[in-house]
Amino acid sequence: MEPVLRAPTVDENAAVWQMICRSFNFPVEDLERFQSDVETVQGLAVFVGDEVAAYSRIKSFAMYFGGRSVPTGGYSPVGAAPEFRGRGFGSMVTAAQFPLLRERGEVLGALYPATTALYRGVGFEVAGVWARQKVPTRSFHSLRPPAVPVRRAEVEDVESMKVLYRSFAARRDGHLDRPDWWWERYYVKDFDKWHIYLVPDEGYISYRHQPNKSWGYTVSVHEVVATSPDVAAALWRIVGSSSSMARETHVIGPVEHPLLLLLPEQDVEHIESLRNMVRIVDLPAAIEARGYPSGVTAAVEFEVEDRHCDWNSGRWRLVVEDGGGRLEKSASAGPVLRATINGLACLYSGYATAWWLAEAGLLQGADAADLAALTAVFAGPTPWMPDFF
Ligand SMILES: CC(C)(COP(=O)(O)OP(=O)(O)OC[C@H]1O[C@@H](n2cnc3c(N)ncnc32)[C@H](O)[C@@H]1OP(=O)(O)O)[C@@H](O)C(=O)NCCC(=O)NCCS
Repeated sequence: MEPVLRAPTVDENAAVWQMICRSFNFPVEDLERFQSDVETVQGLAVFVGDEVAAYSRIKSFAMYFGGRSVPTGGYSPVGAAPEFRGRGFGSMVTAAQFPLLRERGEVLGALYPATTALYRGVGFEVAGVWARQKVPTRSFHSLRPPAVPVRRAEVEDVESMKVLYRSFAARRDGHLDRPDWWWERYYVKDFDKWHIYLVPDEGYISYRHQPNKSWGYTVSVHEVVATSPDVAAALWRIVGSSSSMARETHVIGPVEHPLLLLLPEQDVEHIESLRNMVRIVDLPAAIEARGYPSGVTAAVEFEVEDRHCDWNSGRWRLVVEDGGGRLEKSASAGPVLRATINGLACLYSGYATAWWLAEAGLLQGADAADLAALTAVFAGPTPWMPDFF
């Protein structure tokens, strides 16, 4: 029987959800939540006869790169029924979203991969990291005593947290530009499950307590947003004040964590990490959407072939000046740098330098001047985000 790819109807949602539950071990009783999910902008399924063989769903948000918010379609979830796996349906239902993302102006696709091979096969590449570190809670006592008053947050404070987060996240490549539904779902709806403390208009910390097996608990920090070192120290000292009950604090953040410059000792130890992947869906629009270092000027020609998004294929000239970038179609002939669409995603996010990509075979035929220019254009610390989707 020939597979058919289309958006499922409302009546087919239960069958889609059952297949997703079999794939992810989700509780089937959450069907109502799946159906009324306001975050979803597009679901697509592969049907074989009446059977749902695979499904993908997009949530709309944006990601910060070079200080600008770049519209992005976030995949969550992608699944294929066990009896239909290994036939390309997972890839099909992922790639089929590309033209729809492009139509909506979502110039990037992003996801946390449970397997890298599938997504690499349709043009995604590693582009950022989510990592968890552990710090002895007592280490936070060594920070200078609070110079600013900290108070417990009320649910009404979520609005000012949004404002603080936006200017903080914009300076960190790979962070989500969280839509309102994100704040509603993660902070407002479950406000009572969080411990949130803030310095009004200057910063906040959000964390949870995870019970330990024997006694006490672990402090699990989701994020610290601070506009000055005094505010950061005051917020981390709040965590330190729990050290009689919580021996360990877990912190989400990059592997090379800013705490390493705040704490007197190297008390940050890696526990686990997972890398997210990005797909450049609309190459010229994506290049124009992100920001670039204001002092960098560059012009680099390259060629790319993209078999899933043919509108990206061709010979291009990347021009970067005055903090902006654009792609121009190039008519010149002769040898030129050849990039894969995967390699461009990795470069675009700042995850890898051009030198590193050339060594991995994702950029070919580049001379040293091209590699130096591309490295300067997309330079930055490893992209990361505290969020998981
Ligand atoms: C992961 C999943 C969606 C793959 O579906 P599928 O229809 O079998 O995928 P495809 O047939 O399109 O496979 C595409 C490529 O990914 C590879 N791949 C698929 N599943 C893989 C796995 N578990 N481990 C490693 N590679 C895998 C395939 O080998 C194939 O590579 P190839 O093109 O080199 O042969 C499916 O196994 C699933 O639903 N798993 C449970 C839920 C899950 O993990 N979802 C992904 C969340 S991000």
